[in-house]
Amino acid sequence: MNILITGGAGFIGSNLVLHWVKQHPEDTVINFDCLTYAGNLINLKEIENAPNYHFVKGDLRNPQDIASAFQKHEVEGVVHLAAESHVDRSIAGPSAFIQTNIMGTFNLLEVARDFWKEDLAAHRFHHVSTDEVYGSLGETGMFSETTPYAPNSPYSASKASSDHLVRAYHHTYGFNTTTSNCSNNYGPLHFPEKLIPLVIKNAIERKPIPVYGDGSNVRDWLYVKDHCSAIDVIYHQGVSGETYNVGGLNEWKNIDIVRTICRHLDDVLQRSGDDSCLNLITFVKDRPGHDQRYAIDASKIQNDLNWNPQYTFEQGLHETVDWYLDNQEWVRLVTSGEYQAYYAEQYGR
Ligand code: NAD
Ligand code: DAU
Repeated sequence: MNILITGGAGFIGSNLVLHWVKQHPEDTVINFDCLTYAGNLINLKEIENAPNYHFVKGDLRNPQDIASAFQKHEVEGVVHLAAESHVDRSIAGPSAFIQTNIMGTFNLLEVARDFWKEDLAAHRFHHVSTDEVYGSLGETGMFSETTPYAPNSPYSASKASSDHLVRAYHHTYGFNTTTSNCSNNYGPLHFPEKLIPLVIKNAIERKPIPVYGDGSNVRDWLYVKDHCSAIDVIYHQGVSGETYNVGGLNEWKNIDIVRTICRHLDDVLQRSGDDSCLNLITFVKDRPGHDQRYAIDASKIQNDLNWNPQYTFEQGLHETVDWYLDNQEWVRLVTSGEYQAYYAEQYGR
């Protein structure tokens, strides 16, 4: 099968492309990505010459880019991850989120509808979404697939909108869709603007570690490799028209996770006393509209598709911290924008 993975140069996308190229040598993976600040082909160096991998520099905001990729690579299935993904950026500037996450998803669905019109049901379209579409929880309860949508940020509203488009294309046109709504991911190749990689980076560099508000907000963390295995299972075995919540029953208050990372780094870097990473923690102004708590009930994917996370949080977090310690040059390159400039020249844009 020729599978188009959108956003394959981003955090989850590049982990998924690496997974798919290795786990499914019978498939050809076409990575469709426009390489925003968050997309870096350096993430995919180890497979860039693999015979079953192709990169297409294309923008979801441009239907012609999508149509060319479908035509050239005879796309048979889609896993759609490309999005603007950072909540704080959506608060500062929502426009790109509307253009890419809503209009981009619409453009992708329309091109697929045209190319697959002879037999829409034969082509799977998997949409990767977020638990943030359900809004915020109080102290108890969990999000299930039937929780009503109540997105609170421009980011989550744009993702909710894209989920509804995918749902509508299934019901109206008979698209063969699945959607996953996953909790917070962490792991290698995570752009250091999000909490966990930012804490690791700032701690290593002895910079202030910003904690929003009082640090009591709760997130439910899943190792990115477990998310990739869930997407794989849903793509291959999920029931058309269904949505699946993905999570690892791993709730943490932000301040607790920040302290845990600091303590682990103190051990590894042999820091203590005044030099402890804990001293870098700085409480800052809260995020506007900050969702208090997310928690995922993943029993549907566990019971129906026999998926379970393979990594404990301790394992995943230690692997992640080790990865950032070993890849400080990656951090420097992706945050400096040097790679964007290099690839812009390479691909003529
Ligand atoms: P990311 O920001 O790291 O990567 C996004 C990728 O999409 C980048 O490579 C970027 O270049 C590409 N992209 C952006 N706009 C594009 C456009 N117009 N055309 C083509 N490519 C474009 O994001 P991520 O954290 O890897 O998230 C991937 C997906 O998973 C998103 O849809 C996100 O909503 C969802 N998700 C993320 C998390 C998480 O914790 N990170 C959790 C649940 C769901
Ligand atoms: O729940 C899934 C979502 O998780 C994904 O859909 C999003 O794409 C992804 O970015 C993530 O959203 P969050 O807003 O939860 O992630 P972020 O890492 O930005 O923040 C995690 C928590 O940490 C949140 O409560 C805000 C807080 N925070 C974040 C940053 C960047 C801080 O306290 N300080 C920070 O500097």
